[in-house]
Amino acid sequence: MTLTVRTASLDDADAITTIYNQGIADRVATLETALRTSAERREWLAQRTLRYPVIVADADGDVVGWASLNQFNPRDAYAHVVDFSIYVERGWRGRRVGTALLARLIDLARTLGYHKMTLAALPHNDAGLALYSRAGFTRVGIYHEQGQLDGRWVDVVLMEKIL
Ligand SMILES: CC(C)(COP(=O)(O)OP(=O)(O)OC[C@H]1O[C@@H](n2cnc3c(N)ncnc32)[C@H](O)[C@@H]1OP(=O)(O)O)[C@@H](O)C(=O)NCCC(=O)NCCS
Repeated sequence: MTLTVRTASLDDADAITTIYNQGIADRVATLETALRTSAERREWLAQRTLRYPVIVADADGDVVGWASLNQFNPRDAYAHVVDFSIYVERGWRGRRVGTALLARLIDLARTLGYHKMTLAALPHNDAGLALYSRAGFTRVGIYHEQGQLDGRWVDVVLMEKIL
């Protein structure tokens, strides 16, 4: 098996939708609860700009993960800070796909001139927190009872990496 990380195309919308919806359903990745459709993800892909790329991990022609650099805050003062997302297909988790995607995101963020990458994660996302720590992200702090998921308050862990 050859794993390639490449720029996403509109044709990847179906796979990205499936993988994102798995992450939403799992309730460990995000506070988002609304499942996506391929048409909505296609539109999302079409609207990305050069500063906010989407990449996919391709295993012999199958998309098994995706990741993106996302705007942190629209104010000019935050133009050098970038947020990001990473989602790996359920059957492929724990096989270093996330590590490969994050390494490419860090390269892209440096190339695009960002100064810092930042993220917010749920405290029970063991895989995510391990991935980020391994890549050199450090914990900034924790927002207590920051959001609601299925009617319960959840904390959010904040992490950053100066590039
Ligand atoms: C989080 C996620 C992106 C990690 O990607 P992955 O391909 O599964 O992770 P990797 O195989 O690259 O492993 C990265 C590190 O995390 C560790 N790890 C992986 N799964 C783990 C788990 N379930 N518990 C604890 N550590 C774990 C690995 O051992 C590795 O650390 P190491 O290099 O010290 O051995 C992936 O599991 C995923 O898509 N989860 C659902 C969506 C999600 O949570 N996205 C992040 C939102 S913040």
